[in-house]
Amino acid sequence: MNEKTESRLEKIVSLCKRRGFVYPGSEIYGGLAGVFDYGPNGVELLNNLKRAWWKANVYDKENYYGLDSGMFKHPKVWEASGHTSGFSDPLAECRECNTRIRVDKELERVGITADEKMSEAEINKLFDSAREKIACPKCGQKNFTSAKAFNLLVKSNLGDFTSEGNDPVYLPGEACQGVYLNFKNVVDTMSPKLPFGLVQIGKAFRNEISPRNFLFRTREMEQADTQFFVKPNENEEAFKRIKQERYDWYVSIGIKPENLRFKQHDNLVFYAKDAWDIEYNFPTLGFDELEGIHDRTDYDLSQHMEFSGADLRYTDPETGEKYIPWILETSVGLGRMFMAVISDAYHEEEMDGNIRTVLKLHKDLSPYRVAVSPLLKNKPHLVEKAREVFTVLKKEFGKVAWDDNGNVGKRYRRQDEIGTPHCVVIDFETLGEENSELKDTVTVRDRDTGEQKRVAIDELIEYLK
Ligand code: GAP
Repeated sequence: MNEKTESRLEKIVSLCKRRGFVYPGSEIYGGLAGVFDYGPNGVELLNNLKRAWWKANVYDKENYYGLDSGMFKHPKVWEASGHTSGFSDPLAECRECNTRIRVDKELERVGITADEKMSEAEINKLFDSAREKIACPKCGQKNFTSAKAFNLLVKSNLGDFTSEGNDPVYLPGEACQGVYLNFKNVVDTMSPKLPFGLVQIGKAFRNEISPRNFLFRTREMEQADTQFFVKPNENEEAFKRIKQERYDWYVSIGIKPENLRFKQHDNLVFYAKDAWDIEYNFPTLGFDELEGIHDRTDYDLSQHMEFSGADLRYTDPETGEKYIPWILETSVGLGRMFMAVISDAYHEEEMDGNIRTVLKLHKDLSPYRVAVSPLLKNKPHLVEKAREVFTVLKKEFGKVAWDDNGNVGKRYRRQDEIGTPHCVVIDFETLGEENSELKDTVTVRDRDTGEQKRVAIDELIEYLK
């Protein structure tokens, strides 16, 4: 790990806390590993990301439909999906200090690839052959139990869960199952013509054994998924198009192309025919998975058809032919997206002889579109004029910050740190007290360049747009 990038991640985590973006979950009780809460600025950035993502994947598309399915599902759903049997990590425990390790990850570190489809016995054979090279990260000993499959689904109960024979319900291990359950409903009620897309943003929960790296690996997450239903074997062209569209979208929201790349999976998860990641160059971690793009074939609908007995075949309206569509999926955790966007926007640079921290967020993503200040907060006529401008801008842009704390320099630094693209200051010249030619103009300061311009109040909205 490299010192410089590691400290960059720490700085980003600290900025997120200090500026109300992300707080550790249940902090006053000492925290809860793998859970984070979004603060007042964080929820705005998160909602702006969701809005931009939804626009790109529903409104800007044809034949794509949104959904919002319930989190709890019939227990059989997770049997059909393969999660109760196949959704697990192989874990071993250190006999000296009880620390648990992910055996597949440790094997990978010593150059051995464990296939996701391997049985417990096969993994243990590899583990036995490599034990001399794998030490406990806590106590350094090499004395482990054998590996056991540890299921990642989070269990719960509904109704009268004290009586025997009541099946547990599971929190969703992935958001997409809710879409597959509603495939028939959408076909019956909306009559979409194949190929078509179903889109959902939904929560998912995974009992990750070692949640880590801030929002990168958490136990509670939100996934933004698109599922594109195609005719069997008509997958390749659409898969290529979808992959490229997702990459281009990240660039369109301001992520630097040099921090993005594609990676094809060598080991496929149990349902996939082909799978790619869009990787982001995360601080400290380097390139790692941001979004998964999967060719799931007819696996999901076939499984649900078998387990539920419902006919999930699509009937071609022209030929009458019936078939189970294949599914091309894109899935990204919003926490990872949030972390990538903040990391990419984070800059430390010199301005006016000082080092400043600035988030150069895309203007449609920043928590506030613009901040408004009176030059001095103890001059009622300045405050009154500033309030007028604030009200006009708020009506136009919605989220506008009123900032009259400290001096103007401090306000600029604060707004830089939360990524506000412009600051508008109402001063004595606005009132025409020093130079009548400047009456009804304001100072507009640009976040990225620090440049300040005089702009007439009645041209302000156009200028900011
Ligand atoms: N429905 C497919 C699916 O869930 P996945 O590759 O397991 O596929 C998709 O997850 C995306 O969800 C990942 O690319 C990542 O962005 C996010 N994700 C997965 N596990 C996560 C975790 N523990 N914490 C945060 N994000 C996670």
